[in-house]
Amino acid sequence: MADSSAFDGALGVPDTLGRALRDLRISVTDRCNFRCSYCMPAELYGRDFAFLPHAEVLTFEEIARLAAVFTGLGARKLRITGGEPLVRRDLPVLIAQLALLRCADGEAVDLTLTTNGSGLRPLAEPLSGAGLRRITVSLDSLDDAVFGAMNGVDFPVSRVLDGIAAARSAGLTPIKINTVVRRGLNEASILPLARWARDEGLILRFIEYMDVGHSNSWRLDDVVPASEILAIIDGELPLEPAAAGYRGEVAGRYRYRDGSGEVGAIASVTRPFCGDCTRARLAADGMLYTCLFAVSGVDLKTPLRAGATDTELAALVRSVWTSRGDRYSELRSAATSTLPKIEMFALGG
Ligand code: GTP
Ligand code: 5AD
Ligand code: SF4
Ligand code: SF4
Repeated sequence: MADSSAFDGALGVPDTLGRALRDLRISVTDRCNFRCSYCMPAELYGRDFAFLPHAEVLTFEEIARLAAVFTGLGARKLRITGGEPLVRRDLPVLIAQLALLRCADGEAVDLTLTTNGSGLRPLAEPLSGAGLRRITVSLDSLDDAVFGAMNGVDFPVSRVLDGIAAARSAGLTPIKINTVVRRGLNEASILPLARWARDEGLILRFIEYMDVGHSNSWRLDDVVPASEILAIIDGELPLEPAAAGYRGEVAGRYRYRDGSGEVGAIASVTRPFCGDCTRARLAADGMLYTCLFAVSGVDLKTPLRAGATDTELAALVRSVWTSRGDRYSELRSAATSTLPKIEMFALGG
């Protein structure tokens, strides 16, 4: 790669608000075996829904090449997402390719993955063996009736717990758990999840329900603010604020006062964190998005397949990033929440 990108990598490529490109979220598929009401409601994503055709999806070699361009420009964390990433066949093969990448300063990249946990049992060992370092599992309740209603396919809690156990045995630690809280659906699951995660030594983060995409019919009334979530926990298990793990961490961290662990809150609706947002998103079809709430992206697949060199691809990404001014969550309003945004499963949550 050209010298200029090594320079970029060390200093970071700033966008128009001075935010460096540090994380790349890579969606490896837009498909999922769940139909969470807040993401891919079953009534809209039935059997006849047209997911991306195979030819439109980046190959592992294409993903690895683009990922190398991003690490050359300063990305230090690669997070594999979807859809549900574990439904992509042979995923450990991609992990092995990405695990070879180095940050611009020569350090190994932080290679991680967000999954719904349903397919973890057979894949935890192969993923770990291929070089995946840690994992985040989404889990919205420990109660089968609540979880089944939220995942839209009656998937049982026990199988996700078994997947988490497999990830732990495979050394994919620390394990984080993401819980989206939606008013009227799973507030009663907050305390049981907090107790369970604390007892199991898992890092639980509650996420405010967001207006991503447009098919979840989001309403502000359905959001349970992080302050309310934390008050519920604090009432039983007293909490105190903890320092951020790193600059730009999306989760606010809180410690149990008795020293038994921590819990997080991702307050993207009530306390937006755009000011430190260093995340780029590469969708399964090779589109680059610079915000979770993007209404449009930039096509990297076409130049890639037309034979662009790494230097040319780096110049393209650099130009997209340096003109970036996204701060959707800070600007969120009644008008913006009705924009024709890309769905979360399509651009890689
Ligand atoms: P680590 O700290 O590296 O473990 O990851 P993370 O905190 O970035 O967590 P993760 O990638 O699992 O993100 C958790 C959730 O936070 C996502 O599923 C989203 O719901 C939300 N989130 C992550 N990034 C963004 C972002 O850029 N904007 C907004 N609005 N929400 C985000
Ligand atoms: N609001 C908040 N979080 C969401 N996720 C998916 N859709 C939404 C939404 N509308 C979360 C999932 C998972 C991660 C990939 O994103 O629960 O933890
Ligand atoms: Fe699938 Fe994750 Fe969307 Fe649920 S939130 S439907 S598990 S991609
Ligand atoms: Fe980043 Fe956009 Fe999320 Fe703000 S809304 S934190 S700019 S992805």
